[in-house]
Amino acid sequence: TVMNQLLGMHQVEKEISQYFGIKRCIVVAGNSDNQEKVLYEFGDILTDSLDLILPEGENIIAVMGGTTMAMTAEHMGSLETEKRHNLFVPARGGIGEAMTVQANSVSAVMASKTGGHHRALYVPEQLSLETYNSLLQEPSIQEVLSLIEQSNCVVHSIGRALHMAARRKMSDEEMVMLKQNNAVAESFGYFFDEEGEVVYKIPRIGLQLKDVQKIPNVVAIAGGKTKAKAIRAYMKNAPKQTWLITDEAAANEILKGA
Ligand code: F6P
Repeated sequence: TVMNQLLGMHQVEKEISQYFGIKRCIVVAGNSDNQEKVLYEFGDILTDSLDLILPEGENIIAVMGGTTMAMTAEHMGSLETEKRHNLFVPARGGIGEAMTVQANSVSAVMASKTGGHHRALYVPEQLSLETYNSLLQEPSIQEVLSLIEQSNCVVHSIGRALHMAARRKMSDEEMVMLKQNNAVAESFGYFFDEEGEVVYKIPRIGLQLKDVQKIPNVVAIAGGKTKAKAIRAYMKNAPKQTWLITDEAAANEILKGA
């Protein structure tokens, strides 16, 4: 029955949040590897979750890119109230994603769907260190970086390490190094092994992993059976305040290996 299924799902959510020692886990029915509707539902759930956790006043929400984040953003609903205003900013500078799934685009879509505002961070991909350093001195960039530093919420996804490295066209040397270090997960431009230890980091401006630990509201969104291993690895050392939004296919696979 539907009731039994719901109770079953509830049990899985509890087991997962206990296993990782995180605040909450929400599981959507299905497998986002091959069901788009699951990603749409992530949008509803993210909206409801943020509605619950975001305090009144001015919130700054730092978001990451990726296809999950982009699809989730498209299906968000209003989060703006008389007393609560939200500003969306990209969490980190360009880490090699296609335009439509860059953090800048995701934050713009989230702002438009939720009725909030957004600010972009314009930092091109391949820069010499010299240009990069002088760009960082630009007042307009400094201003957005300072907003990112003040964020009280972060929303991100989790990817498979080698898949993400290939998508970002990382060098052969970097690929070999990731394999040698058994990297299985990636998030925020950091690569993690199965124990959730950082084995490599793409040097970029914006939010760093140690900053995320101190942000009071953290939401991770990732699903699909193919991502189970990556999610498990990253979540092992994830900040304890994290809410994980995932799907049934990933959740069952995570618990199998638990
Ligand atoms: O590149 C941004 C990012 O959020 C990564 O940190 C993450 O690994 C990836 O996107 C997830 O991408 P997707 O949702 O397409 O699997």
